[in-house]
Amino acid sequence: MSEFKPQIFSGIQPTGNLHLGNYLGALRKFVALQEQMDCIYCVVDMHSLTAQLVHEDLKEQTRAITAAYLASGIDPVKHIVFNQSKVREHAELAWVFNCVARVGWMNRMTQFKDKAGKDRENASLGLLAYPSLMAADILLYRATHVPVGDDQKQHLELTRDIAMKFNLDFEGKIRNSGTGIDITVGDQPVHAFFPMVEPLIEGPAPRVMSLKDGTKKMSKSDPSDLSRINLTDDADTVARKIRKAKTDPDALPSEIEGLKGRAEADNLVGIFAALSDRAKADVLAEFGGQQFSQFKPALADLAVSVLAPITEEMRRLNDDPGHIDAVLKDGGERAGVIAEKTMKDVHEIVGLL
Ligand code: TRP
Repeated sequence: MSEFKPQIFSGIQPTGNLHLGNYLGALRKFVALQEQMDCIYCVVDMHSLTAQLVHEDLKEQTRAITAAYLASGIDPVKHIVFNQSKVREHAELAWVFNCVARVGWMNRMTQFKDKAGKDRENASLGLLAYPSLMAADILLYRATHVPVGDDQKQHLELTRDIAMKFNLDFEGKIRNSGTGIDITVGDQPVHAFFPMVEPLIEGPAPRVMSLKDGTKKMSKSDPSDLSRINLTDDADTVARKIRKAKTDPDALPSEIEGLKGRAEADNLVGIFAALSDRAKADVLAEFGGQQFSQFKPALADLAVSVLAPITEEMRRLNDDPGHIDAVLKDGGERAGVIAEKTMKDVHEIVGLL
């Protein structure tokens, strides 16, 4: 019994400024994974057309996400960094998946329901089919592991459903084409062309919450800029936002249980842990019993020491769009080679002449 080659794929949409939640929940994990597997990191620009068709500055936003990838420490030579629209096969495979997936599956997606709001009839067809394009992003490279935030878990389950239905519907043709691999899914043996992707969600800060309300996710759309730390904020701003972060009057507990019911305290401890690659318990062992007036300056120093070099490098890269474009072109070409091969096999399996 063979296995698919381990391969990481993930993507970020080029809409809005990146904040600490994106850094800790995505970028920092992407960087760490480079040591473990081959990685493909994509700026999913075509996904940005799903909720809003016309953008003022889509190209600049695409470059800005690329700059964040590079400034965080992603190596575009050892790994692949590119923007989705450079590789046409994403749209092509998404079409095949539109014919694999069922409308009912799409209608059940929480993200669709949230983004479409009350007037679903008026949502774009692209918004409904969003998960189908996402599945194509991943499966075009037959990726096996996808680091994402926990809000994307449902989309990854759908990706598995699409892969499974494709594998089963075309089982005979996959066998005839000689492109499949024997795997087991649960107890079921399957001759598979597409792997069953695994989400990689864990980490000390899978969810970074608002600095003003520990029960809400940190978000680029929150009207209060004090609720988030942007990757473009300078050191003074970062320190000021942490100083002004909402807390409660009690001292920090010495153990994890003491964080229950203290959403803001939990969030700040989680951020400290994630920024320093430590467990929350370990952070509490050091700071337990201290007041926020002591903990916050330590957190601010830590945040600035981690973020300032990234912010500075992002600024430098933003002044050099030629370099960014060259990185994306090179990445697009290398991704394109893999994508073309997969699509050739898919044509063979599906019977497209
Ligand atoms: N839907 C993802 C998000 O909103 C972005 C995305 C698109 C993605 N394609 C992907 C993530 C493929 C991982 C893999 O965060």
